[in-house]
Amino acid sequence: MLPVAVVISGRGSNMEAIARAAQAQDSGYRVVRVIADRPTAGGLARAAALGVPTSVVHLKEFSDRAGFEAALGNELDASGAALVALAGFMRILSPQFVQRFEGKLLNIHPSLLPHYKGLDTHARVLAARESHHGASVHYVTAELDGGPVIMQGRLRVRAGDSPESISARVHALEHIIYPHVCSLIARRRIEWRRESVYFDGAPLVAPLIEESDAAA
Ligand code: GRF
Repeated sequence: MLPVAVVISGRGSNMEAIARAAQAQDSGYRVVRVIADRPTAGGLARAAALGVPTSVVHLKEFSDRAGFEAALGNELDASGAALVALAGFMRILSPQFVQRFEGKLLNIHPSLLPHYKGLDTHARVLAARESHHGASVHYVTAELDGGPVIMQGRLRVRAGDSPESISARVHALEHIIYPHVCSLIARRRIEWRRESVYFDGAPLVAPLIEESDAAA
């Protein structure tokens, strides 16, 4: 079973989806630790309710980013995790930290990357009258929201969508694709080799796509 750690800052609905999938199916992975960067993260209680060990590396207790990242890295090492899933983790990690965990660090971003990197993606997508939106699970590299995308959940934007309504549908897709990617990595169907992604032994030339019928 691949040991996975999940790092959060907030409510942790993706963390919960990842942990529940690990418990419910033959996922090939297990969540060994949930780490939050603040004690108020709602996901901590969710993780505890699922019986997953939690810890807090409290950002505010460190005078600089290097100290915080060193402590986070040590906590991840101590957890024994071979894969680290950032899930609503609201910090930008330094290139040094990313390098330390190269090929083991995933993130989920609420857009169809490479489009709409950064914040407020739902409102920006609606303002631009895009036909489609979604979420992307990608390996983390030193470039913010720029690492190779493994899988995307895609949905159609509906007339009358608000940032809230579309966010809810994007979240539902996130809860499908993030556990799916963890399983694909656990089963070695997805692999990181020399800064590229391989799928079933061949270079992954385009992200795997999960279409949302419910949102069509
Ligand atoms: C998700 O929308 C994810 O794409 C983004 O932050 C949000 C986290 O939500 N990175 P949750 O804490 O998992 O509910």
